Amino acid sequence: EQHVASNELLKGKKVLVTAGPTREKLDPVRFFSNHSTGKMGYAIAEAARDFGADVTLVSGPTSLVRPQGIQTIQVESAQDMYEAVMKHFQHSDIVIKTAAVADYRPKYVADNKIKKQQGDYTIVLERTIDILQTLGKQKTHQFLVGFAAETNDVERYAKEKLARKNADMIVANNVVQEGAGFGTDTNIVTIFKRDGTAKQLPLLPKSEVAKQILREIHYEIEGRL
Ligand code: CTP
Ligand code: CA
Repeated sequence: EQHVASNELLKGKKVLVTAGPTREKLDPVRFFSNHSTGKMGYAIAEAARDFGADVTLVSGPTSLVRPQGIQTIQVESAQDMYEAVMKHFQHSDIVIKTAAVADYRPKYVADNKIKKQQGDYTIVLERTIDILQTLGKQKTHQFLVGFAAETNDVERYAKEKLARKNADMIVANNVVQEGAGFGTDTNIVTIFKRDGTAKQLPLLPKSEVAKQILREIHYEIEGRL
């Protein structure tokens, strides 16, 4: 049995990774967002670079430092992320959508700061575009990987997302589990594949989870480890 040297596992492959949260503006001083810190996505981008890939990282706002040797594009909203991803999609071989993209944004964005009034305030939200689902419809040769952050019924939701988004793999984590989810340096994930099988990984540092995911992707593409 032959193993490819680690630093050449993804040599010549163009890998597009998205990471972090998005921010959806309400007015010049306020936005909607989520708890994503970008750690999992950055770990994947760095591991792909270390495996020899040519990596582009599209990142929402995070406090992480720009990784060396990776083309990093900073974006803010779901719409910005969509546009940046579409620019790079055609020439990518592997797309890994780790970002926690907002599903809704304020329908009306105020030009000036909204002043408080007496009583309740109602904000109308509209849907953002589902980037992964759009890629799933348009993909030609790209291997598409989605993430699923769930608080319950992980397997059912992950399998449903795999099908609905036409992805090749869904990496699911239960974000309320100890050692998994937002802001931690470790994660516990299960990798769901098109053939209906699932591979559960133990509690690992996000850097190790990243390597395992990339090895699985390589295996799916090349048919060997
Ligand atoms: N995703 C995306 N664009 C969106 C929303 C999600 O590309 N507007 C991607 C995420 O980056 C992730 C995958 O879809 O790779 C799953 O995201 P998730 O939020 O778990 O799924 P949703 O389809 O948004 O379903 P829900 O939030 O209702 O569980
Ligand atoms: Ca969502």
